[in-house]
Amino acid sequence: MEVLPSINDSKDENYQTVIKQIISLMEGEPDPIANLANASSILKNMFRYFSWVGFYRRERDELVLGPFQGKPACTRLKIGRGVCGTSYAEKRTVIVPRVEDFPGHIYCDPDSKSEIVVPIRRSDGTLWGVLDVDSDRYAAFDLVDAQYLEEITELISKTTLN
Ligand code: SME
Repeated sequence: MEVLPSINDSKDENYQTVIKQIISLMEGEPDPIANLANASSILKNMFRYFSWVGFYRRERDELVLGPFQGKPACTRLKIGRGVCGTSYAEKRTVIVPRVEDFPGHIYCDPDSKSEIVVPIRRSDGTLWGVLDVDSDRYAAFDLVDAQYLEEITELISKTTLN
């Protein structure tokens, strides 16, 4: 029988390992597609209860799917709609403990029960897009995730998106 770790077990430690791995893989590599692909893989593989991890970048009035790990997902999302579009439009991290309770939630990942979306800023402050993480468990994300995922998006942005 497989025993899944509890959501809070070693969360800090796991995020610190993720940050070290991302720094080491991005070192000397300026290509954003390569770096975003590796970052999504590192996050998805570290946390067994993350069902989908990926990036959407802004193109005109939409968010377009970028590198991700997980099942195939919606290619284009409208800004201002769904969790990703809301996070982008309101320039803030959005935590959704139960996707059924978020008005306008867009079902892309069929396994998703909870979700967190973090806006990604370039160093000039303009928005590049969002990082979207879904979980197959309810209430998987809290302020600890928000804090680390914001740190990770800043790191990626500084290294690879400007
Ligand atoms: N659920 C998101 C759409 C993206 S997928 O979950 C990968 C939303 O409501 O914006």
